[in-house]
Amino acid sequence: MKARISGIGMYVPPRVLTNFDLEKVLDTSDEWITTRTGIKERRIAEEWEKASDLALPAAKKAIENAGLTPKDIDAVVVATSTPDMTFPSTACFLADKLGCPKPMAFDISAACSGFIYGLTIANSFITSGQFKNVLVVGAEVFSKIIDWNDRSTAVIFGDGAGAVVVSASEDDGGILSAVMKSDGSHWGSLYCPVGEKLRMRGRETFKLAIKSMETACRKALNQAGLELSDISLVIPHQANIRIINALAERMELPEDKVFSNIHRYGNTSAASIPIAMYEALKEGKFKKGDYILLTAFGGGLTWGAIALRY
Ligand code: UT7
Repeated sequence: MKARISGIGMYVPPRVLTNFDLEKVLDTSDEWITTRTGIKERRIAEEWEKASDLALPAAKKAIENAGLTPKDIDAVVVATSTPDMTFPSTACFLADKLGCPKPMAFDISAACSGFIYGLTIANSFITSGQFKNVLVVGAEVFSKIIDWNDRSTAVIFGDGAGAVVVSASEDDGGILSAVMKSDGSHWGSLYCPVGEKLRMRGRETFKLAIKSMETACRKALNQAGLELSDISLVIPHQANIRIINALAERMELPEDKVFSNIHRYGNTSAASIPIAMYEALKEGKFKKGDYILLTAFGGGLTWGAIALRY
C-alpha cells in the first residue's frame, strides 16, 4: 500500500494584522518587515480561539476534498506548539469536534517541522497496513505566545491551520521518501519555556535553516530516486522570503518552482506547509501525478524534507 494525499484544507482567522498596524505599536516599519522577511500581513485568532478551533474548518475541508466523512478517519495527528491544553491533546479535542468515531489521536511537538514529521508518521501507519485514512493537521495560535513588545519576533508569526488526509492507495506514487532530523544542542536558537513567551536568535536560526533544508531536500530526492528536474514545485516552510530565495538559489531552482505565500500569513509554524499546499494546488502550481518536495525547519532544532507524488 502507498500513502497518498487524498484531500487538503486550510483555515485562517479573518482578523488581519498588517505591517502598518504594527508600525503604530512597535518601533518597526513596513519597509523593514517587507525587505527583511517578505511579510505584509498576518492573521490573528480571537481571544477565545484555540488551535483546535482553527484546525476544525481546515480538517473538515480536507476530509470533504478527500471524498470522505469524519467516520472514515482512523487517526488524528495534530502538529502544534500552541496546543489547547498541555493535555488532553489538541488532536483529541479536534477528533471530538469532528465527530470521528474514537480514532487514535495525539499531538506532535516538533515546532515548524511538525507537519512533515506528522506526514512521515501517517506514511508509516498506512504503508504498514495499520490504518487506511490518517488526518494530519498543522494548527497554531502563535499570537498567544508572542511577546508583543519584542519587535524581532512580533512581526514574524501568524495564526492559522492546514490539514491533509493521507489515504491508503494501490496507485503508484504517494509519499516516496522522508528525511527527518533534529539537533537538541541548538535548542537555544528558538524556544518557548512552559507558560512563557517565545524567544528566538534570528540570525543564527536563519543560517542553519538554509543549510539544513538544502541538505534534507537533496537527501529526500536521492532516496526517492528523483532528480531536481522531476520536481514540479518545492513547498518550503514559510519562515522568511530571504530563506526561501536563498534555498532556491543554492538548489539552482527558478523562483517560480518554489512556492511562497508568506506575504499574506507570516510564519504560521506547523501550519505553514499545508496552508501553502492548499493555495499552491488551488493556483494550479501542481496537479495530480506531479512530484513535489516539502521541506521545513524549526525549533528543536528540527528539520526535514519529503518527496511525494501527488
Ligand atoms: O520558523 C522557524 C525558524 N525561524 C526562522 O527561520 C527565522 C529566521 N530568522 C529570520 O527570519 C531573521 O533573522 C529575522 C527576520 C528574524 C531578522 O532579520 P535579520 O536580517 O537577521 O535582522 P537582525 O536580527 O540581524 O537585526 C538587524 C537589525 C538590528 O538592529 P541593529 O543591531 O543592526 O541596529 C535589529 O535590532 O534590525 C533590527 N530589528 C528591527 N528593526 C525594525 C530587528 N527587528 C526589527 C523590526 N523592525 N521588527
